[in-house]
Amino acid sequence: MNRPFDKLSFTVNGQPAAVANKPGRRLSEVLREDLGLRGTKVGCDAGDCGACTVLLNGAPVCACLTTAARAANCDITTIEGLKPSATTDLQAAFLRHGAAQCGICTPGMLMAAAALLRDNPHPSRAQAEDALSGVLCRCTGYVKIIDAVCDAPPTDQPSLKPQAGQAIGARIERLDGIPKVLGTEVYGADHTTPYALEVRAIRSPHHAAKFIIGNTAAWAAQAPGTTHVFTAADIPGENRFGVIPAYADQPALAETRTRHRGEAIAIVVGDTTSLDMLNFDTFPVDWTPQDAPIDLSTKPTHPIHDSRPDNLLITGHVTCGDPNAALDQSAHIATGHIDTPYIEHAYIEPEAGIAWLDGDTLVIQACTQAPIMDRDDTARVLGLAPQKVRIIPAAAGGGFGSKLDVSLQPLIGLAALKTGKPARMIYTRSESMQSTTKRHPSSMTASIGTDATGKITAMRFDGDFNTGAYASWGPTVAIRVPVHASGPYKTPNYRADARAIHTNGPSSGAFRGFGVPQAAILQETLYDDLALACGQDRLAFRRLNALQDGDRSVCGQELHGVGIDDCLAALEPHWHRALHDAAKFNAANHTLKRGVGVASCWYGCGNTGLPNPSTMRIGISTDGQLCIHQGATDIGQGSNTVITQIAADALGLPVSQFHIIGPDTGLTPDCGKTSASRQTYVTGKAAELAGRALRQTILAKSNMANDARLTLDGTTLRVSDNTATREINLTALPITEHGYVLVAQETYDPPTQGLDANGQGIPYAVYGYGAQIAEVQVDTILGTVKVRHMTAAHDLGRVINPMLAEGQVEGGIAQGLGMALMEEYIPGRTENLHDYLIPTTGDMPTIRSIFIEKPDPEGPYGLKGLGEHVLIPTAPAILNAIRHASGARITRLPALPHRVLAAIKAAQ
Ligand code: FES
Ligand code: FES
Repeated sequence: MNRPFDKLSFTVNGQPAAVANKPGRRLSEVLREDLGLRGTKVGCDAGDCGACTVLLNGAPVCACLTTAARAANCDITTIEGLKPSATTDLQAAFLRHGAAQCGICTPGMLMAAAALLRDNPHPSRAQAEDALSGVLCRCTGYVKIIDAVCDAPPTDQPSLKPQAGQAIGARIERLDGIPKVLGTEVYGADHTTPYALEVRAIRSPHHAAKFIIGNTAAWAAQAPGTTHVFTAADIPGENRFGVIPAYADQPALAETRTRHRGEAIAIVVGDTTSLDMLNFDTFPVDWTPQDAPIDLSTKPTHPIHDSRPDNLLITGHVTCGDPNAALDQSAHIATGHIDTPYIEHAYIEPEAGIAWLDGDTLVIQACTQAPIMDRDDTARVLGLAPQKVRIIPAAAGGGFGSKLDVSLQPLIGLAALKTGKPARMIYTRSESMQSTTKRHPSSMTASIGTDATGKITAMRFDGDFNTGAYASWGPTVAIRVPVHASGPYKTPNYRADARAIHTNGPSSGAFRGFGVPQAAILQETLYDDLALACGQDRLAFRRLNALQDGDRSVCGQELHGVGIDDCLAALEPHWHRALHDAAKFNAANHTLKRGVGVASCWYGCGNTGLPNPSTMRIGISTDGQLCIHQGATDIGQGSNTVITQIAADALGLPVSQFHIIGPDTGLTPDCGKTSASRQTYVTGKAAELAGRALRQTILAKSNMANDARLTLDGTTLRVSDNTATREINLTALPITEHGYVLVAQETYDPPTQGLDANGQGIPYAVYGYGAQIAEVQVDTILGTVKVRHMTAAHDLGRVINPMLAEGQVEGGIAQGLGMALMEEYIPGRTENLHDYLIPTTGDMPTIRSIFIEKPDPEGPYGLKGLGEHVLIPTAPAILNAIRHASGARITRLPALPHRVLAAIKAAQ
């Protein structure tokens, strides 16, 4: 038996290794911190996510649940030791199939798959799903991961490398994929230095409380090393941040009161050994808990923010025509109410990062979706000029909207500024879930009317959105929902109101759709009611009302490139097949019932009626390197790849010659935030403009025509057509201000127009459209629901990379399925990944993606955004299918078995 501080010996990836044994240490910690093998990821430290999966004597284990002592004298294989074999080349298969998006789950997936393939080189899909069922992925919907595991034998097939001018539409592997499959990608928790201090936060255990902090120096003195405690009093700047500057209301460290559970009141900074010896339960603080409503059904007895009467943050409003009169005159009216809960983003990477000083510049490398916003918020809190803060986004292990808001950046920045030393912080799973934003819970009512032919006459929508303790993206949700609540349907008379209301729940922020998924659930449910009332097929009813080119939206905007009817038309054969299959099954079964549902989406890309620019720089250096300064954070959705594909075709050189720089606020121009499905469109358009501008510069320099071909060969740039070739010697050109000999920088800002008091205007320049069919099976005795198959038709305008687009659809469907059937975040109760359930491999249906290309007049190459859209129709399609199968009309999400059973009973 090993005594404390004995050495432990292992064989790791075929090499001997020894570390000091400290009782209870996790194998994951030893691998990452002692041996520097940071390819093994930690998502929960509780055996729930599988990100830490390694092989112990050949068997997959969770390294976070395995003590280092138990692993002594064992043979350990981590992602760093995974090599292609004669029978499998898993990592190449993951790249070939697009199985890694953000990549944080990829090492765990690869290790679990390696163990399977060693024993069973040709697994069935069911066997692969079973073997990988303990590893969670929040991005991919698992489809491409299972594809890759079932197609792992080495292949002679080279990766697709499109020629110049053929990048758009090519199914190329993601350009940033190799580090993800090798385990060398650097996420927020992966970068450190030997002298980095650790930062831990003291957080409120109450939903709301006043507090007084006691003698922290005496408490910290219990640790052997130098340990610092910093509170709000130590913050040198304005202790306030927020994604929308006019509403910035959140302190980096609470001052005298906390407004939600998990809010930080202090940070403790020191070396890890000293922090481990402190008893954080005895931190000197006196709490006075307050009444704390955390949902909309409880009326607060106190103002959560003194400046916001009735806890109302903001109301959004759109109206056109005369909805009340039109409803009165309608032949059919459907009215309904639906409540939805808090939903957690549940990315597998908890927030993490490191800060250090580079001269008088504070550098922060942390997970983020919005580096410039992080820079400005952090600078404000720390009293620095923005140019004295440099944000280097670490690879993001998922974001889905929540990593738009700063989390630990001001905290590690404060620690680095105060101590002068690098400071590192890694959130635990529960502090990530407690302290970061969620999807807005909603309480919505609507009425929709039709005439006798089934044409929509009017809609009224009224929604309260629980925006939690701080503003975050509450204003965006309240304004975006009324614009979208009609769905992609012609609605001549309309009024929609959405209110963002504070409670003492966690702040609600951005989560794939900004409130639109909630509103779509109600609208699409009522559309099924109306189709039934009109005696029409539910899909045909939607086609009858689908927006067409030249129609005006509820905001009065004339729309072009409208692809919703094309999506619904593409679904028709699948719809009729599915209805037939369900009817046949139901005729032979009494307790298991199958149903089919359909729902649509539309979604405006980018900010709502506000400036939203991106700037892109492309340069060629004197030594012939072609660089794209790509400031858009790629959180797994693929912007590094698709934006480069766009730039490549605009310039006329192959994608394979591009070197991607950034994002990094010190190196890349502002590409805005990765949100609202804007990067492929807005930054893509800036990339197109920059590519074209650089091409024009080259053509002018060589005096060649527009259709000339470019070839970059070392330090020679050749420009040729069918009659001549001109050569540009790059070494002979002067170097410009950005360090290149040939360079272009272009900015694009979508042409929108702010909304007036009635919500009329041009909120977005580009919309995307889609529709999905869900096929489900309901156990009418148990109330359980199995989604069997999804068919998703989405109008992308132009498909830049089909493989990455499919990955977005599959991942969005997984999140929509979770929203419909299982996900509900309850503060204080579901702050981990075993109480908060997200879909696993076993929950996923088969998925068919259908892409429509109806060009948008404004989008680059006609393209439209996709990321948010794909989640929106999933939950309403599933709910409509449950109702079709069983009669159960779900009015409160998620559709847990007891709610389904109650709804079946109510229907009977
Ligand atoms: S980190 Fe080990 S299972 Fe999640
Ligand atoms: S790719 Fe699996 S969690 Fe992101």
